[in-house]
Amino acid sequence: MIAVSKMAAAVQPSATLAAGARAKQLQAEGVQVFDFSLGEPDFPTPEHICAAAVKAMKDGHTRYTAASGIPALRTAVSRFYQKTYGMAYKPEQVLISNGAKHSIHNALAATVGPGDEVIIPTPYWVSYSDLVQMTGASYVLVPTTMADGFKMTPAQLRDAVTPRSKLLMLNSPSNPTGTVYTRQELEALADVVLETNLSVLSDEIYEKLIFGSAQATCFASLRPELADRVITISGASKTYAMTGWRMGWALGPSRVIKAMGDVQSQQSGCPCSISQYAALAALEGEQECVERMRREFEARRDLVCGRLTATPGVRIRTPEGAFYAFFDISAHFGRTLAGRKIVDSSSFCMGALEAAHVNLVPGSAFGAEGYVRMSYAAARDQLNGGLDRLEQWLK
Ligand SMILES: Cc1ncc(COP(=O)(O)O)c(C=O)c1O
Repeated sequence: MIAVSKMAAAVQPSATLAAGARAKQLQAEGVQVFDFSLGEPDFPTPEHICAAAVKAMKDGHTRYTAASGIPALRTAVSRFYQKTYGMAYKPEQVLISNGAKHSIHNALAATVGPGDEVIIPTPYWVSYSDLVQMTGASYVLVPTTMADGFKMTPAQLRDAVTPRSKLLMLNSPSNPTGTVYTRQELEALADVVLETNLSVLSDEIYEKLIFGSAQATCFASLRPELADRVITISGASKTYAMTGWRMGWALGPSRVIKAMGDVQSQQSGCPCSISQYAALAALEGEQECVERMRREFEARRDLVCGRLTATPGVRIRTPEGAFYAFFDISAHFGRTLAGRKIVDSSSFCMGALEAAHVNLVPGSAFGAEGYVRMSYAAARDQLNGGLDRLEQWLK
């Protein structure tokens, strides 16, 4: 019998993917499920991006590329940062990977290991803790609540730092809360970082999904001294509805990006050649498609938040970005609904799925018991239908 390694045995399967699997099982049995568990745009990938992929295949771009990505795409990403944030990254400071999750794995593998601590504010994206653990490093969670706007304060960050602290993971706009830190709030955190030896992994994958007067800030751009301390992560998945294409990127100091590229070259080799040409078309083509999707997400946010605010026993803070509603359902703990006792966020989600056929993700998966996450990357009639069911069930 082949024994599973300690590292692999410790890895939890992604909670969001697991919730999606149960919903699909019910759907296969003929049940109409309102699935709000998955974190991916429901829009098709824009036509001009698909066309670029077809052309890449016809042009023979079907072989291995440079392990760190084709020069044209690395250049296009660096140009994006110049244009959007005024930052001067050279193409060799950009690494293209198989999705932003892979970029995060590469960043962690290249910078932390046994004995190191990684600071993660909660609620946090489900994969962070497992990705840290796989490197042998440990993570230190810093809890935030709805009352703080789900934002870590400079004082909390200062208190979390120990002699072993190596890296801080930030995520704004956030999955699961949709919170967007203001520039001033990030500057205050940057100043604490610069008082210490911490480096920062800033996951900015939702940078283009921002609502109202909120603004995306590239953390690395805040202070010149951060240039040598910050790895920025982003990608095509959320901005261009390209989750299946697996295109992510990381930007940072040349020596770190080179180390990450070396890790990638041994672990997966180059990212998909065809997807790289598609991502190039995404970055260099018209951006009206991004704005169209953003506007629709904003309208859905307003719809979902409006309805949830009016739902008894639900407390919600209006998110400024991404496409998730993260709401407090702890007022329902202790109730029995449709024959099921609700004691925590998991039993709430299980009840919602089995009785109301609405699929949500428990807050416990994001390090925040008492809350649930609803993705509103779904058509408005689906959102309304699911919210009707949820309201009925909660009555
Ligand atoms: C915060 C955050 N970072 C990274 C990712 C990974 O994105 P990708 O599909 O590019 O791997 C996700 C996907 O859900 C995410 O929510």
